[in-house]
Amino acid sequence: MTDTRVALVGACGRMGTLINRRILETEGLTISAAFDLVNVGKDIGEVIGVGKIGVPVTDPKDLATVLKETGTEVLVDFTVAPATVANAPVAAAAGVNLIIGTTGLTAEQKTGIVEAVVKNNVAAVMSTNYSIGVGVFNKLIRQAALYLGNDYDVEIIEAHHNQKKDAPSGTAMTAAEIISEAMGGKEFKFGREGVCPRGKEIGIHAIRGGDIVGDHTVMFIGNSERIEIRHQAHSREIFVGGAVMAAQWVVSQKKGVVYDMSDVLN
Ligand SMILES: NC(=O)c1ccc[n+]([C@@H]2O[C@H](COP(=O)([O-])OP(=O)(O)OC[C@H]3O[C@@H](n4cnc5c(N)ncnc54)[C@H](O)[C@@H]3O)[C@@H](O)[C@H]2O)c1
Repeated sequence: MTDTRVALVGACGRMGTLINRRILETEGLTISAAFDLVNVGKDIGEVIGVGKIGVPVTDPKDLATVLKETGTEVLVDFTVAPATVANAPVAAAAGVNLIIGTTGLTAEQKTGIVEAVVKNNVAAVMSTNYSIGVGVFNKLIRQAALYLGNDYDVEIIEAHHNQKKDAPSGTAMTAAEIISEAMGGKEFKFGREGVCPRGKEIGIHAIRGGDIVGDHTVMFIGNSERIEIRHQAHSREIFVGGAVMAAQWVVSQKKGVVYDMSDVLN
């Protein structure tokens, strides 16, 4: 069997570097291309510290041409929301399957990506968190929300490193959406300041500092007790493994569908 040909956009970033390294170590996968705004023209192997591999970093303005020329089957995108919104439809139109890890996408932007996937009959995985532990965390918070119902106030606190661009995290937003759906619909309140009596909302709070990889705590607070469910990422490797697993998985799935990480894990 020939290797699955995978390209990365955001290839030189924190996540891109680790995913590229993992692809090189994974049997059955080959790096076909690398896109970023930085290090254009350099060999991606040298950029990620493993020595020349013969794949240059390319400016994403040439995305369609390079994806076709290199026979890329999957494009993995860990960049920023405006880049993903621009690149995903171009890759889909080139017949390339997608793994989207970028967070901070609005509902409208996500809908645009889904439309491009359906229209071009490719498959995609879109997840705000590729860790297996967060998949379980999401199931636990849903279960707790179903058990506890509206008698408990819900607060979500997330913490990330000081370079993270979007807030609150995509994982915190996904948690809020899961709980809201389980509790029959809730408003979200982002931080509190001044006079703000508590309603029936889900409170969402973001902490930024140092090198925190990603902590998420959901508090279900009742009278005289509270339950806290917490996930703490010790290393970005947890996202890397899931993203690479998704890239291997997506090529053999039914086309015209956007999957999430729970589909990959199932
Ligand atoms: N879904 C998950 O499991 C998960 C896990 C970690 C991070 N993330 C998300 O992934 C994204 C990237 O995170 P990171 O820590 O690697 O960030 P980073 O800043 O280290 O890397 C982003 C890379 O994207 C490149 N880039 C920016 N604009 C671009 C464009 N228009 N075209 C091509 N490349 C462009 C940058 O030059 C950089 O190399 C963020 O949205 C982050 O929240 C998701």
